Amino acid sequence: MKQKKVLYAGKAKTVYRTDTKGKLIVEFRDDITAFDGGKKDVLKNKWSYNAEVSSFFFSYLEENGVRTHFVKMLDERHMVVHELRMIPLEVIVRNLAAGSIVRNYPFKEGTKLEPPVIVIDYKDDSRHDPMLNDDLIVALKIATPRELAKIKKVALEINRLLFKLLAAQGITLVDFKIEFGRKGKTICLGDEISMDSMRLWDKKTGESLDKDVYRFNKGDVMATYNRVAARITKTRKK
Ligand code: C5P
Repeated sequence: MKQKKVLYAGKAKTVYRTDTKGKLIVEFRDDITAFDGGKKDVLKNKWSYNAEVSSFFFSYLEENGVRTHFVKMLDERHMVVHELRMIPLEVIVRNLAAGSIVRNYPFKEGTKLEPPVIVIDYKDDSRHDPMLNDDLIVALKIATPRELAKIKKVALEINRLLFKLLAAQGITLVDFKIEFGRKGKTICLGDEISMDSMRLWDKKTGESLDKDVYRFNKGDVMATYNRVAARITKTRKK
């Protein structure tokens, strides 16, 4: 498969067209950003942790019946994916209260959310990703009520699967963000799932094992990513 022109360059990944119809190549970069791009850095080898963890999660989810865009890794840095028509939603599943819902609502950090809470934001940096509700999503014609129901169901299933996998390594899945797209009429999981898009706490110590280390200068983010990537991928290596 040959890499062709850049289709889209996001904050931490570049997506390329290929010579194969319906397939794209995602390249993981060393960029890390937070606060709507207000904080930015380039961290050597960051790509490797995001690529490793994302491909690991996608494979695991596929094996467990979740449809994703993942096809295979071309090499350690490049992921072959099915081309999706992306849906501009950031679907966030929360098991414990942290981050923006603690800032915006009277939740105490660490409060268990049972059942898990789904928050859906409109993916639009120029509007600072405002929160949506079901009526707005339908009125904006972003998704039909049926598609929205499917998105929520799949998001909860992904949460169940990831929560279990991470718990086996002593990691609490606090929350995470995912994005979906359409392949024909099928809703598939797209984008990436990595420490950049999740909140992970060590079960014993409560230590942050994710991008909060970078956001809030809690320590050496690359050392954290290195350790947590090894812990996550070990969950299924013999
Ligand atoms: O900031 P907030 O608490 O709303 O984030 C919830 C979860 O979604 C966090 O794990 C965060 O890393 C992720 N997120 C993301 N991209 C965004 C917003 C949130 O990956 N644009």
